[in-house]
Amino acid sequence: YHFMPQSGWMNDPNGLIFFNGQYHVFYQTNPYNGFWDCMHWGHAVSKDLVHWEYLPLALAPSEEYDDYQKGGCFSGSAIEHEGKLYVFYTATANHGNGSEQSQCLAISEDGINFEKYDGNPLFDAPEGIQPDSFRDPKVWKHENKYYMVVGASRNNRGLALIYESADLYHWNFLNVLAESRGEWGFMWECPDFYPLDGKQVLMISPQEMEAEGLEFHNGNNTAFLIGNYDKEKLKFTREKVQSVDYGLDFYAPQTFQDGKGRRIIIGWMGMPDADEEYVNPTAETEGWQHCLTVPREVTYKNAMLYQYPVEELNGLRKAGVSVSGSDVELPVNGPFDLDIKVKGEQGKISLGENLFLDYQDGNISLALSEKAGAGRKVRKAHIPSGKVEALRILADTTAVEIYVNGGEVVFSTRYYPETDEQTVKVETAEVDGEVYKLKNCVME
Ligand code: FRU
Repeated sequence: YHFMPQSGWMNDPNGLIFFNGQYHVFYQTNPYNGFWDCMHWGHAVSKDLVHWEYLPLALAPSEEYDDYQKGGCFSGSAIEHEGKLYVFYTATANHGNGSEQSQCLAISEDGINFEKYDGNPLFDAPEGIQPDSFRDPKVWKHENKYYMVVGASRNNRGLALIYESADLYHWNFLNVLAESRGEWGFMWECPDFYPLDGKQVLMISPQEMEAEGLEFHNGNNTAFLIGNYDKEKLKFTREKVQSVDYGLDFYAPQTFQDGKGRRIIIGWMGMPDADEEYVNPTAETEGWQHCLTVPREVTYKNAMLYQYPVEELNGLRKAGVSVSGSDVELPVNGPFDLDIKVKGEQGKISLGENLFLDYQDGNISLALSEKAGAGRKVRKAHIPSGKVEALRILADTTAVEIYVNGGEVVFSTRYYPETDEQTVKVETAEVDGEVYKLKNCVME
């Protein structure tokens, strides 16, 4: 039930939108083999955010501005305009002066077939911005104008630029929305900017960050900057920084607002530039690699952002089996959804000999066995509210998402258990809840 490519390589989710009664997910893909190269946009639709139907590739490198070895149609976003689907993407090309990135547009009337705009590229990097680090346009509408945030690099520091347009074709550079002071990487990939419950969120994926305490241990990381937006001065001021995910495989998320007004986030469960060299075993043997997280609703409460699987995922649950007491050992074969309340100051919960959660003194750690994690290490997180009171574990064949206290802390990780005969094991803690086996959810 984690969305995966039909074949080949997958990275960032792109162009997330609810359009003509369906959810659309586009994604960065190299359809030819299991490794990153010549970027296309893959495409799938769903009526319920759970069952996905693959559609033909939406964008392929084809023009001078987006066609070159190790380039193509990079990440971007979608917006509806006059009943049509407009997608904005970054074209990467190389005409002999190194890689150059520009923002481009493609339009679809039926939501399936896209035509690149004749006037592409729309614009390239403004002065002072590195031409090879100017990408990932995220577009939204406010009152009668369109806005776009683009990730960039200046003097080796990440920043986000804001643009404005009256018609989606002509764009004016307005301002630097926010900039790293050196603490958040040399380039901000995949910026996203949205109001949420009275706050403004700038979500960024900075490349090559230094870890700080328990935060940002993946090299390239993802952060929620929570604050306020001054629409007159076109400036974002941050009040708080929060790690989006503490797992070993999470990067380049994007959000969108659906027909029900929910702010939904989907991330890429991959991490190619992580400090541990890691290739999913399927890349060589089966010619495909990576997946997306399940769609999660993002909300603001207790002065922070929470993420929790959309309620539609509950529809996959078969009858529950009770998990209760302080010493539990329960076989569950194949994918499952564990939903429990937890009591006590400390505890250990594990999935067979593959994955270990351990919490005490206000922190929680996730560890994978050498085999299941392909040699990857432990990740730890501080629990903002102090202790673990609820846990939801979405375990798939080779992907796990762990939600602590309704989504205060989230870990997303790929793992490779030796068999699918999993055992949920609880030690020390006092737990009460259920585990659900899941209905088959084969993509069409
Ligand atoms: C993030 C990213 C984006 C870029 C895309 C290329 O993972 O590097 O910045 O547009 O992937 O595939």
